[in-house]
Amino acid sequence: MKKPFATTGLRLLALATAGLVQACGTGTPAPAPSPTASAASSSSAPKTLMSIKELMDSAVDPAADGVWDAVGVHVTKAGTEQHAPRTDEEWQAVRRHAVALIEAFNLVKIEGRHAAPAGAKPGLGELSPAEIETRIGRDRDSWNLYADAAQEQAVKALQAIDAKNVQALYRVGGELDERCESCHVAFWYPNSQKPTQ
Ligand code: HEC
Repeated sequence: MKKPFATTGLRLLALATAGLVQACGTGTPAPAPSPTASAASSSSAPKTLMSIKELMDSAVDPAADGVWDAVGVHVTKAGTEQHAPRTDEEWQAVRRHAVALIEAFNLVKIEGRHAAPAGAKPGLGELSPAEIETRIGRDRDSWNLYADAAQEQAVKALQAIDAKNVQALYRVGGELDERCESCHVAFWYPNSQKPTQ
C-alpha cells in the first residue's frame, strides 16, 4: 500500500519542480523596489503596531508570570511546600518564558509606540496615555534604562534556569518584580501609592 503513494508523491514533486523551472526561465523578474518607495516606508524599520499597554498585557506580563510561577512556596494546612521545575521538560517550559521576556524588553524600547489603544481610560491614580507618551518623549533615556534594568533580571533568570538553580531563580524573580514596579512608578502611576501587584 505504501509504494503507490510514494510514487505519486515523487511524480507530483517532479511536475512541480518542472513548473517552477519553467516559471523561472520564462517569467519576467519582479522589479526591484524603487529607492523612493523604500524611503517613504522603510521596510527595515520595526513597526510599532501595538501599544505599550497591549505589549505589557500580551507579552511582558504572561512571560514574567511564567517565570514567577515556576518557583514558589505554597502554604497549606499541612505546612509549607516548595514547588519548582523538576523534569527537563519543565525547565524547558520556564526557559521559554524567560527567552520571551528578554526579547519583549527590546520591543518595549522601540520608539514610536502609543501608550495605549485609542479611547483607553486611565485607572485611579494612573497617568493618561497621552501623559505617559509625553513623559517617555521627554526622557527616553530613562525609559530605556528601566527597560534594560528589567531585561538584565530576565537574563539572570535565564542563567538561573540554565543552571537549574531554584534559589537563584526565586531571588532574581523578586528583583525582576521591583524593576517592573520602578518603571511603573516613574511612567505610569507616579502619583499613586498603588500596592505592588
Ligand atoms: C520601561 C518601563 C516599563 C517596564 C520595565 C515594565 N513596564 Fe509594565 N507598563 C509600563 C507602562 C508605561 C504601562 C502603562 C501603559 C498604559 O496604560 O498606557 C505598563 C503597564 C503594564 C500592565 C498593565 C497592562 C494593561 O492591560 O493594562 C502590566 C500588567 C504590566 N505593565 C506588567 C509589567 C511587568 C510584569 C513588568 C516586568 C516584568 C513590566 N510591566 C515592566 C512600563 C513598563
